[in-house]
Amino acid sequence: MNFSLTQCSAIITGASSGLGAEFARQLAPTAKSLLLVARREEALNEVKAELLAKHKNLQVHLCVADVATDEGRARIIECVDVFDLKPNMLINNAGIGDYGSFASADPAKLRGQIDLNVTALVLLTHAVLPRLVAPAGILNVSSLAGNVPMPDLAVYGASKAFVTSFSEALRVELMEKNIVVSALCPGPTPTNFGKNSRRADGSDTNRSGQELLRITPDEVVHAGLDALVSNRACVFPGLGVSIAAPIFRIMPRFLMRWLLVRRYRKQQPSAT
Ligand SMILES: NC(=O)c1ccc[n+]([C@@H]2O[C@H](COP(=O)([O-])OP(=O)(O)OC[C@H]3O[C@@H](n4cnc5c(N)ncnc54)[C@H](OP(=O)(O)O)[C@@H]3O)[C@@H](O)[C@H]2O)c1
Repeated sequence: MNFSLTQCSAIITGASSGLGAEFARQLAPTAKSLLLVARREEALNEVKAELLAKHKNLQVHLCVADVATDEGRARIIECVDVFDLKPNMLINNAGIGDYGSFASADPAKLRGQIDLNVTALVLLTHAVLPRLVAPAGILNVSSLAGNVPMPDLAVYGASKAFVTSFSEALRVELMEKNIVVSALCPGPTPTNFGKNSRRADGSDTNRSGQELLRITPDEVVHAGLDALVSNRACVFPGLGVSIAAPIFRIMPRFLMRWLLVRRYRKQQPSAT
């Protein structure tokens, strides 16, 4: 494997803010071209202007698309062909969450998480694969939440467990084709994710107390890119997360369940 970021041509989903925009910033100094994908055109344009102000020779293309839809994914493939890109990197980063109980969740948000975090990631990867020029890299942004059942974030956690498992299997299938697949599993990271995951009616769960796991978006992205280049299957960025992940993995299931119930009860508003 000799995948390198030098002169890479990358497709980044969810590039209008947070980790996606940071992937673009960190790739910009060495990349040949970037295809930035998201729904908000204005925000994408701001990221593009920021990149071009510093990197005059970089090709930055925008694709305004909802990755969660068939039309959106077809639009991305159309952009790859129209701009005559020869991508060697796909960063499946776009994702959403929903803080709060499953019973009180908006069904549209439940479906939205599966459509974007799972279906979009799988089908976009499948559509891009024939166009990826090896040596190539696919980075799937998963989460520490994929390593442990998450009461009050149940669908999100399960969707990220899917992403991590899918990435590990795909990695083996694509190894012979000289395509590296890595999963990036961050803990809580200060982006728009938390704000967007909150419930409009205030019924979301208090998720404070995660300071020990938190690191900055630029540290998370750096760890993700490093995982691809050094051909690592899975990376848990930051000291707190890198300690928590193996503990979750080896912890006896009965102990995990006891802790989950204890934590869940503590989080519930006390009856007055
Ligand atoms: N921040 C955390 O605490 C954390 C922790 C672990 C894992 N993650 C994962 O990190 C990834 C990036 O999230 P983030 O933290 O950077 O959150 P963010 O700041 O909210 O960014 C999410 C990005 O996804 C895009 N997006 C959302 N729905 C989309 C859709 N249907 N089609 C296309 N683009 C869409 C958004 O752009 P538009 O609104 O313009 O479409 C935005 O650019 C996600 O997969 C998330 O699950 C985040």
